[in-house]
Amino acid sequence: MKTQKRHTITAALPYANGPLHLGHLAGVYVSADIYARFLRSNGEDVAFICGSDEHGAAITLRAKKENKSPKDIVDEYHFSNKNIFEKLGISFDIYDRTSSKHHHETAQELFMEMDKKGALVKKESEQYFDEEYQQFLADRYITGQCPKCGYQDAYGDQCEKCGSTLSSSELINPISTLSGKSPQLKSTTHWYLPLDRHEKWLSEWIQKGIYNEEQVHNPENWKNQVVGQCMSWIKAGLQPRAITRDLDWGVNVPVKDGEGKVLYVWFDAPIGYISATKKWANENGKSWENYWKSKDTNLVHFLAKDNIVFHTIIFPAILSELDGYILPSNVPANEFLNLEGQKLSTSKNWAVWGKDYLTEFVNQEDILRYVLCSITPENKDSDFSWKDFQARNNNELCSIFGNFVNRTLVLTKKYYNGVTPSRNNVLELDVELLKTIKETPDNIAQAVRSFRFRDAQAEAMKLARAGNKYLADTEPWKLIKTDPERVKTIMNISLQITANLAIVFEPFMPKKALELAELLNIKLPRWGQAGKDQLIPENHTINEPRILFEKIEDEKIKKQIEKLKTKEQKSNKYPPMKEEITFDEFSKMDLRVGTIKEAEKIEKADKLLKLTVDTGIDVRTVVSGIAEHFKPEEVIGQKVSILMNLASRKIKGVESQGMILMAETEKGELAFVSPNKEIDAGNTIR
Ligand code: 2FM
Ligand code: ZN
Repeated sequence: MKTQKRHTITAALPYANGPLHLGHLAGVYVSADIYARFLRSNGEDVAFICGSDEHGAAITLRAKKENKSPKDIVDEYHFSNKNIFEKLGISFDIYDRTSSKHHHETAQELFMEMDKKGALVKKESEQYFDEEYQQFLADRYITGQCPKCGYQDAYGDQCEKCGSTLSSSELINPISTLSGKSPQLKSTTHWYLPLDRHEKWLSEWIQKGIYNEEQVHNPENWKNQVVGQCMSWIKAGLQPRAITRDLDWGVNVPVKDGEGKVLYVWFDAPIGYISATKKWANENGKSWENYWKSKDTNLVHFLAKDNIVFHTIIFPAILSELDGYILPSNVPANEFLNLEGQKLSTSKNWAVWGKDYLTEFVNQEDILRYVLCSITPENKDSDFSWKDFQARNNNELCSIFGNFVNRTLVLTKKYYNGVTPSRNNVLELDVELLKTIKETPDNIAQAVRSFRFRDAQAEAMKLARAGNKYLADTEPWKLIKTDPERVKTIMNISLQITANLAIVFEPFMPKKALELAELLNIKLPRWGQAGKDQLIPENHTINEPRILFEKIEDEKIKKQIEKLKTKEQKSNKYPPMKEEITFDEFSKMDLRVGTIKEAEKIEKADKLLKLTVDTGIDVRTVVSGIAEHFKPEEVIGQKVSILMNLASRKIKGVESQGMILMAETEKGELAFVSPNKEIDAGNTIR
C-alpha cells in the first residue's frame, strides 16, 4: 500500500445550534481522531481540521424558537462543543468558526473566482415566499408531505423519516414554518452550480477513481454505501443547484444583484475546511496550499451518511472549478448510531449528551472512546446500550487489558523492586508472543489506513489479550518459588508488551496511553517504535503501580437507563401504552350507556361532583372528578359511558358505584365519552 506523507483530514463541521451527543462522536469524530493520531504518531504530516458550521436555516430557526439572535446561538454552542471535543481528546489542529471574518472572505473569494470564470449560472426562478413575514423561505423553513414516503412533517431539504434529500418544490402541501400558512411562489434571482455539467466526470471519478493523471484513487477502497449513494444521485441525473439564498444570516453574496442574499450553507461550510486550514497554516508558519493543492496530499473527509453527497458531488464540483485544488482520496462515511435500539433524536431528547457523560463519568473519557470505536457504525447502523458499555469496560478493559498491566507492574515491583529483570532463555511460547508483538502494529496500521477502526482497535486488544493469557498460562506467581530465572524472562516480556500497548493504544485511548507510559516511567514512544521487544531496557525502574481501569458498577448503569426512560416518557405527548390484556380480561368490564339525572358539589372537595346516574337497570350514585371542568347544571341530561361493575368505594364520605369514562387531553381538558346518536341508557358498550 502506497502511503502518503501529508494528510488533510477534515471532520464534518457540526452545526453550532445544539449540543453534541454520542451519535456525533461515534459517527464522525472518534474515527477521524484515531486516523489523525495514528498518522501523527507515525511521523506523517497532518492537518486535522474542524470547526463550527454557524450558518444556515438550522441556526436561524433555533434562534427564532428561543427568541435569541443567531449570533447568541452560535457563540453558545461553538464554545461548549469545542470544550467537549477537547475533553474527549479529539485532537483537531484547529477548531474554527464559519462566522469568522476570514472565513467570509475566503468563501466570497472562491465564489467570485467561480463566477468570473463562468462556473456559475445566474437564473431567475420561482421560490416559496411567506406573505405574512414578507420573506423568501429557505428549504428548512418549509414542511410538508414527503413525496417519497408520505411522511407528513418532512423538511424542504430532507425527510427525516426516510432520509431522502428533497427540494421544497417537491413537498406535497407545503407549509411555512414562520406563519403556518401555505407559502406563495414568487420570482427571485439566484446563482446556481450547474451540476449537470459535472455529471460525466463525477461519474467516472466515483466509479473508476480517475480525476486526472496525477490524482487517482482505487474505488475499491471506498465504502459501498458511499459509492452507492453517489451513483444513485448521478443516475437520477444531476440538476443545477442554487448556491445562494434570500436570507439575512450567512456570507453575503459579493457581486452585483447579490444584496439581501447569502451563500447557501452547503456552499460555504465545506469551504470552511479551507479557510480553517489557511488560519492554522498562517499561525504555524506553514503553507496552506500544500494541504489543498499538492498532489502529494491525501485529503480525507470524515462524516456521517447524511453528508455524503455534499462531499462527493457538490464540494468536488466546486473544487474542480477552482484553481489547482485536489479532490478527496476517500470519504469514509459512517452510518448512524442508535441508542438502546431506537433512532437517536435530538428533538425527542433521545440521546446521551457529551456534556452529561463528561460530568457523570469523570476521568473516563477514554472508556467512551473505546466503546464508541468498538461499535462504530462503519458499514451499517449500530447500537449503543448502557449494558454493553458496562460490559466492554468491565470484561475487556478491566478484566483483560487492566488485569494484564496491573499484574505485570505489581509483580515487577514485588519481585524486583520495580527494576526490569533480564531476559534469559526464551522458550517457544515466548517466541510466539514476540512474533505477536512484532506483527501487531502492522495489522493495526493496515486497518486504520483502510478506515476499519473497529478491526484496528480489536487488533490492539488482541495484544493485551495475548499478554493476559501469557501470564495466566505461565503463572509466574507459582514459578517464582521453583524457577526464578524463568520468571525474569516472563516479566521482561510482559513489560515489553505493556510498553507496546501504550504505543498502539494511543490513537484509541490517548490519555490511558500516557498514563501507561507514566507508570512504566518512559516517554511515550512513537509508532515507529511499536513492535520492538526491547522498549524497556534491563535495569530500568518503573513507577509505583496503579489501577488503570475501574469497574463500572451496576448501580451507575441502572441510573443511566432510568434517566433515559424518564426522558422517553417526558418526550412523548401521550402516555405510553399499558400492558397487553386478553379479550377475557376486557370482557369482564360491564360498560353501558347512562344518563346523568342529578349533579351536585361535594363539600370540601373542589374537584368532585356527586352524580345520580340512570343506568337503565338502576339509578345509582357515582362520584366523579370533573367539578373543575363542568358546573353541576351543565351535565344534567348528559349521556355518558359508565363502568358498572367497578367495586364500590367511599370517596369523601360518599359511596361511589361505578365510574364515568372521560377523554382527557395532554393539557388535562376533559370531555364525556358518549354515543354519537340517541341510544337509551342501559345499552351495553363493547
Ligand atoms: O450536517 C451537519 O451537521 C453539517 N453542519 C455538516 C457540515 S460539513 C461541512 F461541509 F462543513
Ligand atoms: Zn420520506
